[in-house]
Amino acid sequence: MTADELFNQAQKAASQAYAPYSRFQVGCALFTEKGALFTGCNVENASYGLTICAERNAVFHAVAVEGPGMKIATLAVVALGQAFPPCGACRQVIAEFAAPETSVWFLREGKPVSLTMAELLPECFRI
Ligand code: THU
Repeated sequence: MTADELFNQAQKAASQAYAPYSRFQVGCALFTEKGALFTGCNVENASYGLTICAERNAVFHAVAVEGPGMKIATLAVVALGQAFPPCGACRQVIAEFAAPETSVWFLREGKPVSLTMAELLPECFRI
C-alpha cells in the first residue's frame, strides 16, 4: 500500500470521529506486517479524560484481530483540516508494536511527511 492509499484510509476513518467537544476529527490507518489494514478514529466522552485517540483505536483494533504478535509495518495519522504528528501517549503505544525504523506518516503544513519511530520517540521506554 502506498502512503497515498494509507492517507485516504486515514481520512475516511477521520470522517467517522465522535468529536462533539473538540470538533477535531482524527483518523489513523495502519498496515500490519501480515498485510492487513486497520483504521481508527478518535472517540470523545463527556468525561473528557476518557477520550481515546485515533491512533490508539487503530492499534488496539489491530491487536484484537491479529493477536499479541501484531506488528505495525507503517502507519498514517490525519485530522480533517489540521496537520500534526501523533501525540506523545500514542507514540508510546505505537512504539510497543513497531520497530525503531517503522515509518509513521502525518501531514506537516498540509504535506505528507514520514519519520521513523526512533525519530518520533527517541529513548523509548521499554521493559
Ligand atoms: N487526538 C487524536 O485522536 N490523536 C492525537 O494524536 C492527538 C489528539 C484527538 C483526541 C481528541 O479527541 C482531539 O484529538 C483533540 O485533542
